[in-house]
Amino acid sequence: MPMIRRWIRYDDAMYEYVICGHATMRMHVQIVAIVALWRCVLLVQAFSPSTAAAAAAAACSKSSATSSSSTCIAASAAVTSKSSSSGSAHRVKPIPYIATTSTTEHSRALSQYIRRGDRVLELGTQLDACTETIREAIGDGGCGVFVDVKRTQTTSGRSGQGSRDPGMVQSSGSGENAKYIVLGKFGQFRTVLDENVESPFDVLVLDVTAMLGNDLELTALSVIFEFVDDMTRRGKQRPRAVIVKSKAIASLSRRLVHAQRLFDGTVTRDFKSPSRDGRPYIIAGVGVEEYRRTIPHVLQDTDECLEVGCFSGTTTQLVHDASKYCIGVDIGPKIIKRAQAEHPDIHFAVGDAWRSLDMLRIKRDAAALRDSTSLVSAESVLSGYDVVYADIGGLSGPDGLLESLSLIDGLSYALEPRCVVIKSLCMRRLASSLRAYSDIWERSQKW
Ligand SMILES: C[S@@+](CC[C@H](N)C(=O)[O-])C[C@H]1O[C@@H](n2cnc3c(N)ncnc32)[C@H](O)[C@@H]1O
Repeated sequence: MPMIRRWIRYDDAMYEYVICGHATMRMHVQIVAIVALWRCVLLVQAFSPSTAAAAAAAACSKSSATSSSSTCIAASAAVTSKSSSSGSAHRVKPIPYIATTSTTEHSRALSQYIRRGDRVLELGTQLDACTETIREAIGDGGCGVFVDVKRTQTTSGRSGQGSRDPGMVQSSGSGENAKYIVLGKFGQFRTVLDENVESPFDVLVLDVTAMLGNDLELTALSVIFEFVDDMTRRGKQRPRAVIVKSKAIASLSRRLVHAQRLFDGTVTRDFKSPSRDGRPYIIAGVGVEEYRRTIPHVLQDTDECLEVGCFSGTTTQLVHDASKYCIGVDIGPKIIKRAQAEHPDIHFAVGDAWRSLDMLRIKRDAAALRDSTSLVSAESVLSGYDVVYADIGGLSGPDGLLESLSLIDGLSYALEPRCVVIKSLCMRRLASSLRAYSDIWERSQKW
């Protein structure tokens, strides 16, 4: 029976609809109509939870009445129910991105997340204990594709990336459940996806340093997203898990917090003290209400704060009241004029959030302008800010994640805050996916 899968991205979730039926022209028209109808139901659901179940049920009965008996709509991979009692629309669980930092942690994560019979793609294979762990975990019925880039030999005898002996691939050969591939350059990893369109991978394993030659979070996340998006776009299936060996991603996983987890007490870290590695905590929320609700969880009365994208200054005022002071910055001169008129006690300035060093200049100006009455002391002008609130449009769109990470990086390096609170759907989604394996391991040991 022919099968069509559709992914619909809505709100904070991906919805998958599997439509099966005979591929006649009439059927095709019906399917298109059903999908369109279903999208409308999703919208109704989003705005009116109470009417959602009824609408979904109505849509279901209508679709089965108008389509042939062999046509059905089923939601796949149902894990977290979004709403309906009809049971046919579900929020799909975020794919876990498990970040590991050492070979021991990596091997443990591989054993825990890979199942017998899985198809696994390992990018940046070292052909070491981890590769063996994958082969053991998948068993004879599974399939491992182990990919690496060609190493360049240096005059010292060490290879350009890592220290793997390049002859190992040839001598290892390809076994029953394993295929080794050496790419000329990293970008060719897409050809591996092309060759495996018909049998997608269940788990992606990425050794960032081995594959990319560096350990940068933006590059590693770009590879993961490209892989996941590619599989989703082709409509086959999403990977069940991504296991990534990277100190940078592990650090990000420990510091990035979903705002709702802060409110419901799931995350109990002390955001009023610096993080373990001195890099800022990142709290990601959606909507202005969530953004402002973080204030009591994050701020203390000695904090020197900044809000970029302050608009009329409502949040700036709330942050200001809960801290030593907050400076409001916005790119629009008229906006700043209005904010200043509405909140005369606060220092506002025109500035571009992407020019992070300008935020230090603005702090210095604030200290100079208001001299003795200013809350900004002359001594503190070089010390950056304790907490930065960031809400500049465009952080939730298609490129929102990489934009948000770049913005956070820029602000963090220039201003060295203890905490960045960001309004970004993409960052909040990432917070739902990213997990540091050390946390998972610690929890499992407590039980
Ligand atoms: C959604 S509004 C902010 C609302 C405000 N944070 C609040 O809580 O009431 C987004 C603001 O970001 C500002 N903005 C956009 N790009 C910016 C940039 N690059 N630098 C600073 N502000 C920016 C816009 O002018 C707009 O006022």
